[in-house]
Amino acid sequence: MSHTPGSSLPTANSPSPAADSSRSTAGPASRAADHDALERLLLAAGARPEDTLRAVHETGAAQVVRIAVDELISRCLPHPELPDTPVQFDLRHEDRTHSHVLTVSGKGVSAAPGPDPTAPMWISYELSDLVRALYGPAGARAGRTRRTELRLGRDTTDTSDPESWIRRMHPVSDAVQVVLAALEPAPPALAELALRHRTDKWGPLHWFTPHYERHFAQLRDEPVRVLEIGIGGYDRADLGGGSLRTWKRYFRRGLIHGLDIFDKTGIDEPRITTLKGDQSDPDLLRDIADTYGPFDIVIDDGSHVSRHVITALTTLFPCLRPGGLYVVEDLQWAYAPGFGGTPDDLASPRGSTGFLKTLVDGLHHEDIPHRAGRRPGYLAEHVGAVHFYRGIAFLEKAANSEGAIPPWIPRSAVPPVEDAAHTEDDAHTGDDTHTGDDAQAAADSPWPPPGNGH
Ligand SMILES: C[S@@+](CC[C@H](N)C(=O)[O-])C[C@H]1O[C@@H](n2cnc3c(N)ncnc32)[C@H](O)[C@@H]1O
Repeated sequence: MSHTPGSSLPTANSPSPAADSSRSTAGPASRAADHDALERLLLAAGARPEDTLRAVHETGAAQVVRIAVDELISRCLPHPELPDTPVQFDLRHEDRTHSHVLTVSGKGVSAAPGPDPTAPMWISYELSDLVRALYGPAGARAGRTRRTELRLGRDTTDTSDPESWIRRMHPVSDAVQVVLAALEPAPPALAELALRHRTDKWGPLHWFTPHYERHFAQLRDEPVRVLEIGIGGYDRADLGGGSLRTWKRYFRRGLIHGLDIFDKTGIDEPRITTLKGDQSDPDLLRDIADTYGPFDIVIDDGSHVSRHVITALTTLFPCLRPGGLYVVEDLQWAYAPGFGGTPDDLASPRGSTGFLKTLVDGLHHEDIPHRAGRRPGYLAEHVGAVHFYRGIAFLEKAANSEGAIPPWIPRSAVPPVEDAAHTEDDAHTGDDTHTGDDAQAAADSPWPPPGNGH
């Protein structure tokens, strides 16, 4: 075992602008205990209301309140020009009320325990109902125990200047909206999240977020486990993590893991776990998958070295759940020799894009006559779909076994096509002709040579 978990137990928020908006109410020790409790609550929120209530009871109200308030403020997207505006936020459980004051401002949201009788707005929920609103699936009829009261000016009976009260109410409305919007099951648009959290998945170099939304939307309401290779910021401990925070907000029920060759523990926070290690080390990757998987999503945005991309894919794809997605970013580097790319041999499976292209033939392994009787590789049997976009590919995991077209169906068009055309096609495929440096890539490909025991 060679990987070093940055921390399996979250420790501290980074001082980045994004983390400012989620200033924690908990110290390192309580965060450690929160990790297991969090996963229990995530799952219980998707069960029946009485199961959620039991999970809250067993975890202990004080810990659940801390987790829930942390989560809530991490989701808040504040108005840029909002002045500091306090909102009293009460959570009721059994016969106790747990009060916090949420201070909403243009810079973010922070929480302090205790009531504030001067706060202009009061919001309250049953604690287990709030847990369901935060972590339950959309449509779970959660958030219905909410009570609110505008307390601004409640002690005055002077009705001479209602307009000035209305003006003073505007920031209060905005602050309340910041808090309530954080409880909506639908996340903000992925491009907005990417910009907010400073990941380059949306502009000006790449335009990936619509592709991500197309493939990830079906999973965004699930308690997914995500692994992204490449946290960002390289050796700067205080930089990076933008994409991990984006996924945390997008997958409100998800556990997000990041792997980087540098220590990025400063980025750990509830539902985000960083791990340190090299993506070109298959033992490390298997070990991570054993400990934190199986994964629903793996994203490779790490070194972009073709050899590393292929190692990570062939090692981690088996650790994806059926129905899971494997994403490879920044395919432009498959054409750069400095990243081990193969610009002069576009079909070479040594280049990451060349390797991914072999998966298209792998999809049809049962239909290729000269493959009959040869055992397909793992990827040929388990990649169910391959989607290419400019600079990014999405692979879907599904059993790829439909059986070949029966032999009694004629193998020629009417009228028959000249044989010469087939010969030419086979020459382009070239999948039997790997030599030299291509040998290892060919062994990893969906077309392992005979005798390779994938
Ligand atoms: C492009 S950045 C990731 C950006 C991030 N995913 C985002 O969207 O905000 C690439 C990261 O990969 C890391 N990296 C480079 N080589 C690596 C390797 N061999 N294994 C793991 N991580 C690596 C770098 O340290 C860097 O932080």
